[in-house]
This record gives sequence, C-alpha cells and structure tokens, in this order.
Amino acid sequence: MSKKRKKIISVVGARPNFMKVAPMSREFAKYPKQFQHLILHTGQHYDANMSKVFFEELSIPKPDIYLGIGSGGHGEQTGKIMIEFEKICVQEKPDLILVYGDVNSTVAAALVAVKLHIPIGHVEAGLRSFDRAMPEEINRILTDSISDYLFTPSPDGDVNLRKEGVAKNKIFMVGDIMVDSLVFNRKKAAKLSVLPSLNLSPGAYALLTLHRPSNVDSQENMSRIFKALKVIGKKIPIVFPVHPRTKKMLDRFGLTKVPGIELVSPLGYLEFLNLMMNCKFVLSDSGGIQEETTVLGIPCLTLRDTTERPITLTHGTNTLVWHNPKKIIAEANKILRGQAKKGRLPDFWDGKTAKRIVKILKGL
Ligand code: UD1
Repeated sequence: MSKKRKKIISVVGARPNFMKVAPMSREFAKYPKQFQHLILHTGQHYDANMSKVFFEELSIPKPDIYLGIGSGGHGEQTGKIMIEFEKICVQEKPDLILVYGDVNSTVAAALVAVKLHIPIGHVEAGLRSFDRAMPEEINRILTDSISDYLFTPSPDGDVNLRKEGVAKNKIFMVGDIMVDSLVFNRKKAAKLSVLPSLNLSPGAYALLTLHRPSNVDSQENMSRIFKALKVIGKKIPIVFPVHPRTKKMLDRFGLTKVPGIELVSPLGYLEFLNLMMNCKFVLSDSGGIQEETTVLGIPCLTLRDTTERPITLTHGTNTLVWHNPKKIIAEANKILRGQAKKGRLPDFWDGKTAKRIVKILKGL
C-alpha cells in the first residue's frame, strides 16, 4: 500500500457493527490527506430502530454506499451481499477494506475482497467461542483466515490466532473498539431521562436482551429461560427491549405478557446505554453487552454456555448461566443479596482503540 492517499471501505450491516465503525470514522476524518474513508452499509439490518437511529445518535456519516440486502437465509443473505459488494470493489478499487465483528456482512465482504486481492483489516479479530453451531463462530474463523491485518481486542484473541497458524506480524492487539464508543458517549447517555418514562428507578430493575437463535428459536430453551425470569421478575422488575427476531418467536410461543417483565421496542444506543448503566444487573445472550457491562462494572448473567469473550469472565463482571433455570436464579439471587461479581478493566479497553488502528494503517 504505497499510494499517497489510501481509499478504505468500511463494511457494516448489522446493529453491533455501527458502534464499531463510529470511532473509526471519527479517527479517519482527522487525516483527510492520508485517507479517503467510505462507509458501505449492506442493509442486513434495515428497521429504523436497528440501523438509522445508531447512525444518528453516534453521528456516523450517512453511508456512502447502501446495498439494501435485507433479511434472508444465511446463504441468501451472504450471497446477495457478495454479488453486490463485488461490483462496488471493481468500481471503487479500494486499497483496503475494513470489516467488523462476526456478522454475515463481515464474512461476505471479506470473501469478496480476498478474491480480488484487496487487503482486509478485521476489527475484533481472534475471538472464539469454540462452538461451531453458532453462525458467528463460522464467520469469525473464515474472516480471520483470509484477513491481512487482525486487530484483536484482548490477548486471548492473539493466542487463538497463533494456534490457527496466523503469522505474528499480522496480529495487532489494539483493545476493544466497542469501548471507544462507550467512553465517548457515556456522559451524553447519562444525561438522558429514560427511566421515568419506563417507571423505573436507578438500581431497582434488571435489564434483559435475547436474540441468539439457539435461545429464541427453540421453544424448549425459551421456556427454561422464562421459568427463571418469572421467579426473578417477582423480586425485581425486568425491562426487555425486544429484537425483531425475538418478537416473532415470543408471539409464536405466547410469551408476550409475563408478569414482572416489561417488553419494549429495540432502543437506540444512548437509551440502551443509559438503561445499562443504571440497572442492578443485566441478563443477556449478546456478545457486545458482556464487554459493555464489564466496562460499566455492572454484573452480567450471560444466557449462553460459552463465550468468545472469556476476558469478561476472568477480568470482568460476566457469569455464564446458559438456559439453566437453577443457575440463572441462583446467580440473580447472589446479586440481589449484594454479592455481585466485581471486575476490573482489561488492558487497552480505554477508548483509544481506533487511534491505535489508524496509527497502524498510517504506517503501511
Ligand atoms: C445478526 C447477527 C448477530 C448479531 C445480531 C445483532 C449474523 C449471522 N447474525 O443477528 O451476530 O448479534 O445481528 O442484532 O449476522 N429483522 C428485522 N429488522 C431488521 C433486521 C432483522 O425485522 O432490521 C428480523 C428479520 O426477521 C430477520 C431476523 O430479524 O430475518 C434476523 O435478522 P438477521 O440479520 O438475519 O440476524 P440477527 O438475528 O439480527
């Protein structure tokens, strides 16, 4: 990459990508002579509250290119993104593409770029749950194996990549890009008045999110989780912003009216951050929320049996409870008794990850 001004396309598509591209976009904007940074949105997520609201609240520039792919089976969605993104790459001839996290848009864009011999940077590389039934795990393994610059959030990422034979000089431990957005927006989020509109008081409610196919697409697993939620909901109200995928399944399983659980529509980044920083604890099967709660020092009970973010268990406030009702209730009770897990911040989770990545790219 010797050209003077580098053209970089950041590819994003799904909700957890947006808070990762925001700090990168801000950092690239500081060096207009060195970088032309374009944002391509695949349209994997398209509802206003799953996409547009994040661009607005995080002040992400409007995407330069929008593919409008939408929902579909994994093959259909990945394939459609590849077909359209290939045309863009041929036309735009980027010097590098940046992909984020582990969603279908990530792997689709990386597959296109590698075949066109366009270098790839993967932001949030190296994470492994070692559970190949998770679509994200396949996306992570494939993306990392064809990326040229692997930006890892924590040392476990480096270890995983080295074990898979990735050359040391391709791996850069830069810290967690999600934390950049959290640090940047924390004060702004704290000023919002979200709690009164939901009749909640600080420290007196639990926050729930659920969207993993292994949980929400299975009536048996959902029933196990709700068995625990009904018990916990008697002790502390649970507020539940519902992902569209989950909404469909809750309707199907008749779980929309459960005492103690308040269902609300998906929230914007700032509103959700406000709810997270003020709650007693979080119950979730999300990836990123495990990291955010660790940074905020809020206990997190993760409704999964594995995590690709083990540092949140060893250093942070995270505990795996799977869909095991006994374990979920026992851990929630511990927190309610004042025996919540205390965590500490992993190295480089300091809000300066985008700066480190762009510094590396400037040196190429
Ligand atoms: C995707 C990611 C997952 C990430 C999650 C965050 C993959 C394989 N999965 O899962 O890693 O944690 O995003 O939200 O990429 N839908 C809407 N409106 C939207 C988007 C989706 O109604 O704007 C509904 C559609 O019915 C769709 C379903 O949600 O079929 C699932 O969407 P999809 O993007 O396939 O996967 P997610 O479950 O959102």
